[in-house]
Order: sequence, then structure tokens, then C-alpha cells
Amino acid sequence: MGLMNYKKKIAIIYTSVTGNTEELATIIYNTFLKYPFDTVVYQVDRFPLSRLGDVDVLIIGTYTWGNGEIPKEMDKLYRALEFLNKKSLVTAVFGTGDSFYPSYCGAVDKFRDMLFVHTSLAATLKVELTPGQQDVKRCENLVQVIYNKFNEASSKTLSSRETNYKLGKQC
Ligand SMILES: Cc1cc2nc3c(=O)[nH]c(=O)nc-3n(C[C@H](O)[C@H](O)[C@H](O)COP(=O)(O)O)c2cc1C
Repeated sequence: MGLMNYKKKIAIIYTSVTGNTEELATIIYNTFLKYPFDTVVYQVDRFPLSRLGDVDVLIIGTYTWGNGEIPKEMDKLYRALEFLNKKSLVTAVFGTGDSFYPSYCGAVDKFRDMLFVHTSLAATLKVELTPGQQDVKRCENLVQVIYNKFNEASSKTLSSRETNYKLGKQC
């Protein structure tokens, strides 16, 4: 009975300076409320890295800095995930960026490549600056893909659809 009541834990960990990525994190959080998960949103500096092993699904949100760089405040999280190296952890990464820069949402790409190697990467999402109405649908798609991936991972069934998740599905 107790097991049936256990809701899987999702952590959305993000960083944002001017609010775009925070807005996107809020849309994704609100979408997750329709699913049977216990979802919590954290600013990266408020998330205790010692709790990384406790979450069932981890979703990362980041803007891009410098020339396609991961923001400094995300470095510790990046390295902790590399070290954790937990292939059963379902992950996704989203971010906002500005296509004026040569490496559009480069931080999303950098997280994607690491998460693909060290975790079970479900999906990625890139949004141009401030999320618009059209991005709400993309967030719904992202959440559905994560949910499917989580169910697949839970039932431990390998299917041919697995190949669709190479480097995560772009939402
Ligand atoms: C100095 C600087 C460098 C940036 N470099 C990039 C970049 O390389 N690639 C990119 O896609 N966006 C880049 N951006 C744009 C930001 O990632 C974008 O404005 C983002 O939406 C900010 O997110 P936030 O509102 O959550 O802080 C840069 C912005 C600044 C100010």
C-alpha cells in the first residue's frame, strides 16, 4: 500500500539571470503538475548536491554565457552528475539563448552531451530568449517524452524506439 502511494521525485534545477530560463522552468513545472510525480523546482544554488541520488528524474535548465559556455554556477552540478554516473537516472535539459550568437544555446548542447554519456537522457529543448505561446506546446511535448522515457526505463523494456532517444529527442 505504502509503495502504491510513493510518488516519483522530479527535480527541476535551473539558473537564470534575466528571467527567461526561469519562465521556461515555470511552464515545465506547471505542465508536470498534470502528471503523477512529486515535482520540485530549485534554483541551482538552492539544490543540495548530496540529494542528487534521491531523485528519479532530473531536469536541468540553463541559459548560455560567453561563447556558448555553461554558466559558472552550473559547474558543480555538471561535475556532480559526471561523477554520479547513474545510467538509470532519467534526465532532460532545456535552455534559453539568443541565436545572434554563433553557439545558440551552447550550454544545452554541453549538458546534453554529458547527460547522454552519464545518465538516461530523454530530451532537450531550446527556446529563443523569452518563451512565447508556441513554446507551451513544446514544453508539453518535452514533458510527455520524459514521462514515456521514465515509464520505459521503469519497466526495463528495450524496444526499437530506444534509438529515437540518441542524444535525447529535440522538442
Ligand atoms: C555576455 C552574454 C553572452 C551570451 N552568449 C550566448 C551564447 O553564446 N549563446 C546563446 O545562445 N546565447 C547567449 N547569450 C544570451 C542568453 O543566453 C539569453 O539572453 C538567455 O535567454 C538569458 O537567460 P536568462 O534570462 O534565464 O538569464 C549571451 C548573453 C550575454 C549577455
